[in-house]
Amino acid sequence: MTDSSASLPDPLSEPAGMREQYVTDGLAEAELPAGPMEQFARWFKEAVSATGAVHEPNAMIVSTVDAEGRPSSRTVLLKGFDERGFVFFTNYDSRKARELAGNAAVSLLFPWHPVARQVIVSGTAERVGREETVAYFRTRPHGSQLGAWASAQSAVLTSREELDRAYADLAARYPEGEQVPVPPNWGGFRVTPRTVEFWQGRRNRLHDRLRYVRTPDGKGWRVERLSP
Ligand SMILES: Cc1cc2nc3c(=O)[nH]c(=O)nc-3n(C[C@H](O)[C@H](O)[C@H](O)COP(=O)(O)O)c2cc1C
Repeated sequence: MTDSSASLPDPLSEPAGMREQYVTDGLAEAELPAGPMEQFARWFKEAVSATGAVHEPNAMIVSTVDAEGRPSSRTVLLKGFDERGFVFFTNYDSRKARELAGNAAVSLLFPWHPVARQVIVSGTAERVGREETVAYFRTRPHGSQLGAWASAQSAVLTSREELDRAYADLAARYPEGEQVPVPPNWGGFRVTPRTVEFWQGRRNRLHDRLRYVRTPDGKGWRVERLSP
């Protein structure tokens, strides 16, 4: 948790003076499970149950790189995780998806500021199977299903009206209660982690940073402690 009593300056005029003292219990090697997904499950559960402190704990920042090596980031929602990795859904023609098609390297960052934690994943992304996409699409609200069709994600629009018109046309074609087909250019990515860092804020900037790194045989994990 954080103690903001020390941060008095007006943040609008003096962001350099904004600082929080992180007064949390630490994270020790001895308490870590064998693999990072189990540790992620523990922290995710705690972020979810931190009495509403972490807004949308499943929101994560996904960073990709283009063919020139220029990075780009955006927020997406984590929609599943298990031993295989982390899953999110998006438009396969979007900037992020096009960049992943050219270079599967990806970074995920969960910014859980209210509990002074972050989780940073480095790995590779690949598309999930079509059945997995269809199963998830069916759980989305009708309006979100239409939205997935209406938006040529990342493309330049001439106006807001163009988007609203596209949505209205689709809503007329598929009224509430009618099944919306899954857009062919929409689906999931699964991020297979290569490293997963668990960052716990501590006093005096002496944070705990424990990073799982996949062993060369790809089967196990080792943990290393990074200097804060
Ligand atoms: C809280 C939040 C959650 C979001 N979740 C998703 C998501 O799950 N999938 C998605 O494609 N875009 C999501 N977005 C929109 C993306 O941030 C982004 O604008 C969009 O995916 C286009 O990114 P791109 O042009 O870099 O590919 C979300 C945005 C926010 C702020």
